[in-house]
Amino acid sequence: MSEFNKLSLDAVQEEGFKPLRKTFSEGGNRNNHTSTAPGSFKFKDPLFDYYKYIDYREEIYVNRLREAVAIKSVSAWPDHRQEIFKMLEWTAAWTEKLGGKVQLYENPCKTQQLDDGTTTPLPPIMLGSFGNDPKKKTVCVYGHLDVQPALLTDGWNTEPFELTEIDGKLFGRGSTDDKGPALSWLWMVEAFNELKMDLPVNIKMIYEGMEEYGSEGMFETVNELAKPGKFLSNVDFFCISDNYWLGKNKPCLTYGLRGMSYFEVGVECSTKDLHSGVYGGSVHEAMTDLVKLMSTLVETDGTIKVEGVMKDVAPVTEKEQEIYETIDFDLKNYAEEVGVTTIGEARLRHDNKKDLLMARWRFPTLSLHGIEGAFSDPGAKTVIPRRVLGKFSLRLVPDQDPKQIAECVTKHLNAEFDKLGSPNKMWVKAHHGAKAWLSSTDHPNYTAAAAAVEKVYGLAPDMTREGGSIPIATWLEDATQMNVLLLPVGACDDMAHSQNEKFDRKNMVNAIKVLGCYLFEIAKIKGPKPSECRCEPISMEDMMIPGAFARGFRCKCEI
Ligand code: BES
Ligand code: MN
Ligand code: MN
Repeated sequence: MSEFNKLSLDAVQEEGFKPLRKTFSEGGNRNNHTSTAPGSFKFKDPLFDYYKYIDYREEIYVNRLREAVAIKSVSAWPDHRQEIFKMLEWTAAWTEKLGGKVQLYENPCKTQQLDDGTTTPLPPIMLGSFGNDPKKKTVCVYGHLDVQPALLTDGWNTEPFELTEIDGKLFGRGSTDDKGPALSWLWMVEAFNELKMDLPVNIKMIYEGMEEYGSEGMFETVNELAKPGKFLSNVDFFCISDNYWLGKNKPCLTYGLRGMSYFEVGVECSTKDLHSGVYGGSVHEAMTDLVKLMSTLVETDGTIKVEGVMKDVAPVTEKEQEIYETIDFDLKNYAEEVGVTTIGEARLRHDNKKDLLMARWRFPTLSLHGIEGAFSDPGAKTVIPRRVLGKFSLRLVPDQDPKQIAECVTKHLNAEFDKLGSPNKMWVKAHHGAKAWLSSTDHPNYTAAAAAVEKVYGLAPDMTREGGSIPIATWLEDATQMNVLLLPVGACDDMAHSQNEKFDRKNMVNAIKVLGCYLFEIAKIKGPKPSECRCEPISMEDMMIPGAFARGFRCKCEI
């Protein structure tokens, strides 16, 4: 047994880990997570030892993810706020243990205003760094340590906060969104440390605990930290691993996200809930008004009925039409995964790849989410709810502006409410909003990541956009002018936000490998550091093409 192999096994014992109880479903393949077997990489690869080391430590990573998942850091549950603090502290302690510097940066908004008028503290933002060598480039990674709510009674097959492995799938809330990927950066640093390999770049981390609840205070933080001499001012590249592959097996790099505008429309008709038999007929019911209002927002075929909303949607260019042709995407598999195949007519809204992907990635949508205050329990309660709040949101695309969208939506609802002639109280509240984000795939940040993906998975990544939103992608790019790359490591069927969220064991291990390899590839990039480039864009036209003017590349620095 080589010394290196022994070292990792010792470490396993040091952490006193217990292997997870593995369950195999009927027909499950016990070996389907072993495709990353040591030895499957070429001997000459400078990262050969690194890959091998990670393979040996698989159980340790699973165990640590189990610890992280057990911390119920649900940002939408104010009574669990302490768990978010705990999760940030857990991660900060690991960062320090691995030789990093950490600051728990106070959230500039300090407290969060809750719906009932009370306030609760906002967790800090974790700023970490490994290395500070002026000769090296600096890569800053973003991740979030909060998760969506989850209850067994929502329909989970296993306890959501107890990581459970079935057929190589690690089930647990936050396993893929975003604890698994976010922690992978740390385990990558650990591997470099243990193998006495120099980190190829300086690493900075910006990790938050309120992403799933709108990232309050993050915009202000990013703008403050981007100022000269501050934390983000010498970052050359950003990388975020917080989205998913388009399929189950083929990796991708993501260069676009939709933005979002979240709304609440409230109607109040009384100071108390009323018996519908006793009072029905005598009052104007809030719920009736609200359902009418909500039905004016969107057509059943998805058409958004709010005037002015589609005005700024960027037209589809010819070049854009072509990119959909080569993307690996199977409509039938997708339908199954989404879960529509066994329901009703089993139809999706589009029957071809291009239209379906465009509908997910580059056109806006409006979804109705729920009604707070409405009766929603089993049984048949005969109540007239006194106050109901309709929740809905739009996913935005370039060049829609959340502020302008909020104006259109408010105007629309006011006009529709006027038409009802109702004496009730109605209000519209615009929650968080974020612009869509679109980058360019020929930036060196993407070229480096593509090379890493190809080395680790043996496949060139597809270049994809996504329908989900990560508001900080735009904030980071706008505040620093540096490129943001989305490097997903989870599969399309990971079911973030849903019941039975999971992260494949195989993907967890490959994530650590690919992140390390990506840094290696970044270090190879020739040319000045983007953060030190002070070139003006060559022309206004260059400015208009997202990512076309890449600081430090194809600019005057290089000439
Ligand atoms: N990881 C997701 C974002 C995501 C999901 C990107 C799927 C691409 C595909 C993130 O944690 C998330 O859930 N974001 C929220 C943002 C919102 C709270 C502003 C979202 O998309 O709903
Ligand atoms: Mn996420
Ligand atoms: Mn999420």
